[in-house]
Amino acid sequence: MSDHPFYITWTAQKKAYTLPIIGAKKGYFLTDENRKIYDLCSTSYQAAFGHSDKTIKGAIKKQLDQFSIASPKSVFDLKTTATNKLLELISLKGKIFYTVSGAESIENALKMCRQITGRKIILSRNNSYHGATLGALSVTGDWRNKDHLTVDQWTKRIPEPSNDPHALDLEKLILKIGPEKIAGFCLETITGGNGVIIPPTSWWKAIKRLQTKYNLMLILDEVICGFGRTEKHFGFQHFNLKPDFICMAKIITGGYIPFGAVWTSNSVAKYYKSNTLSCGLTNYAHPLALAAMEAVIDILNSKEHIVHFQKLLHVFENSIETFYKLENIKEIRQIGLLMAIDLKENISIEKFIEAGVLVASVKNHIVLAPPYCLSESELRRNLKIVCHVIKENYHE
Ligand SMILES: Cc1ncc(COP(=O)(O)O)c(C=O)c1O
Repeated sequence: MSDHPFYITWTAQKKAYTLPIIGAKKGYFLTDENRKIYDLCSTSYQAAFGHSDKTIKGAIKKQLDQFSIASPKSVFDLKTTATNKLLELISLKGKIFYTVSGAESIENALKMCRQITGRKIILSRNNSYHGATLGALSVTGDWRNKDHLTVDQWTKRIPEPSNDPHALDLEKLILKIGPEKIAGFCLETITGGNGVIIPPTSWWKAIKRLQTKYNLMLILDEVICGFGRTEKHFGFQHFNLKPDFICMAKIITGGYIPFGAVWTSNSVAKYYKSNTLSCGLTNYAHPLALAAMEAVIDILNSKEHIVHFQKLLHVFENSIETFYKLENIKEIRQIGLLMAIDLKENISIEKFIEAGVLVASVKNHIVLAPPYCLSESELRRNLKIVCHVIKENYHE
């Protein structure tokens, strides 16, 4: 048993690995031995601006001094201006519903999608994660779904895009289920932690066709790929998609305050003009989170950030060739500052931490999602460390 009075997530407690920290600076944690551990996965993909961003911290502090609690139904300037900035970033007409996490963004999108269509079934992928609450878990396809009794009978698993690039088998499945029973799709635009899988354009084109043909709604999960991670502001902006809901969290506040949001299309907004929106939460549109979100959007729109991101991207993309020279590498998938490296032989996360870097390690792959605030030389140096760990831990 771990000695801690709290649980360590997603693990048997006696097997848990922990990272003892005493602080965190720009792009790294400081351990209790005063070692720097560079945060190459932005913690859990949220800390894209590092751990001590002045703009975000300043915005939160300023708001804390004005007011830090607001009733869900209250209206204030920050709520309006920050929401308008978010809508501009998304560049689609619609309306925002606020939450406090990615899972709750998915929950609320599922609720609205089922309420509007009057249908229950959601189509989702096996290789997916959508959050730990029961509704979000029911559409999740990875191992985390298996331990719980969820509303799985309302979920149907669709073929993976790589096996069905034109969604022909998917269409057969829709006809078998009966389109009149299906509310819509819930899909990560670009698979995040489960391996940075970028569905082919042909697949997305087919999804759009099926949406129109069978009148199905589309919930996009942009919890990892939103807010600049994939170079564009949102993952869906790489494809020509027609979402009804876009679920956001994580980088929305850089992780400084727990927060999430659901963009809904104008037609959804129109539905709720006269129908009751039976969704809400105590900390809806929390003022401190809105202040952090506004700061995040201001940073993303700043010239300085745009120029720096391109420099980091250059370093990141250049590393791929070096990684491919290692014997332990099977395949690499990358988009923007998000990369999955499939390994022939697994390497434990402890090996990376010992070497001074934190990466996301899942089964046979690691995922890199470095903070946008690293300098080019920090990124280059730390990618070399990742390379070294991969090389040193191959025993074939
Ligand atoms: C793609 C995706 N969707 C949803 C979630 C759930 O977000 P949260 O942990 O904030 O509830 C996650 C969390 O990792 C995620 O990666």
